[in-house]
Amino acid sequence: MSELASTPPVTAEEIARYVVAEAVWAPSVNNTQPWRFVADGQQISLYADADRGLPVADPDGREMMISCGAALFNIRVALRSLGYVPQTIVLPDPSRPALVAQVSWRELAPVNEYEWRMSRQVRRRRTHRGAFDPDPLPSGMLGALRTSAERDGAALHIMADDGRRATLAAAVQTAEQQLRLDSSRVRELARWAPAPGSLRGDGVPATSYPVRTERTDPYFPGRDFAHGQGWGVPPLSTAAQSHRAAGVVALLTTAADRPADWVNVGQALQRILLATGTCGVAVALHSQPTELPLLRDFIRTKLSSGAYPHLVLRIGMVTQASVSVRRDPDEVLFSSGGGHVGLARA
Ligand SMILES: Cc1cc2nc3c(=O)[nH]c(=O)nc-3n(C[C@H](O)[C@H](O)[C@H](O)COP(=O)(O)O)c2cc1C
Repeated sequence: MSELASTPPVTAEEIARYVVAEAVWAPSVNNTQPWRFVADGQQISLYADADRGLPVADPDGREMMISCGAALFNIRVALRSLGYVPQTIVLPDPSRPALVAQVSWRELAPVNEYEWRMSRQVRRRRTHRGAFDPDPLPSGMLGALRTSAERDGAALHIMADDGRRATLAAAVQTAEQQLRLDSSRVRELARWAPAPGSLRGDGVPATSYPVRTERTDPYFPGRDFAHGQGWGVPPLSTAAQSHRAAGVVALLTTAADRPADWVNVGQALQRILLATGTCGVAVALHSQPTELPLLRDFIRTKLSSGAYPHLVLRIGMVTQASVSVRRDPDEVLFSSGGGHVGLARA
């Protein structure tokens, strides 16, 4: 059992509460956590919560659906950790586009070691922000990650040669510069970057990013969550940091660019993040260039053979010390009657 469930959940309501408490640990753009869940017997419906969308950075809701896709993958992993076989339908009702997926569970099957280890990463995994140690990734990992992405209908393009890495880094730098100059984007990001000491359960806390960005070659700048206030975590060591690496650089893409592809790429992302976590490998995410249509199109045509790019991933070895936050699962889990699951039942 994970940390949450000291005694295994048994009733459908207990299972739903357990599964949603795991689902909320998915990554989401700016930690907006743009989701709500409705439990109905042995079924959970996952809805996108447009009130938590980013109208300026993400007008089409693509990053919102990717975030929900990652939460969907957590639901599946959590059900497997209990021995249930999840039955998933993505976007089951065209007349309700906010209904991202319905997951039900009826059959049981033994949990294998790998599924169990993945489930243990759900709450431990953290987005990395900064450089990596120069150590190589475990052998065979990149091939396994490529296959992982394909299982969810996405593709992981590894930027193996220096030229492509440098071009992608330049795209991230250009995007980051443009985002910092756009006051409406800066204001929107600031709403999701609370000051140190905030008690909020959402947004990107100052405990989760470094006070100073470590330079790497090529350089992939992080988002400016601190907006010039000097917030962030000091370096683990004050010793001069030499040989800090950008990590293995990759692009996560899909062949088409419809909401179902966005949900799938979110599932692929979370599958990759949990898989790397099982080997002590960390991942940094950059969506700055894919939020700008011109740069996204540049990447699509020049670096990903026409496939639609969603995220730049940097993958590497590093000791992580960041702390993230989540809202209480009770805030996002409802019964089909509209009430909160497991709260006083009248
Ligand atoms: C679609 C998407 C885009 C993201 N883009 C970035 C990004 O550009 N920069 C970044 O530092 N993190 C990015 N993230 C990571 C989120 O900020 C992170 O998941 C969230 O703050 C929660 O923290 P955690 O992943 O450590 O739990 C992105 C995540 C998603 C799902």
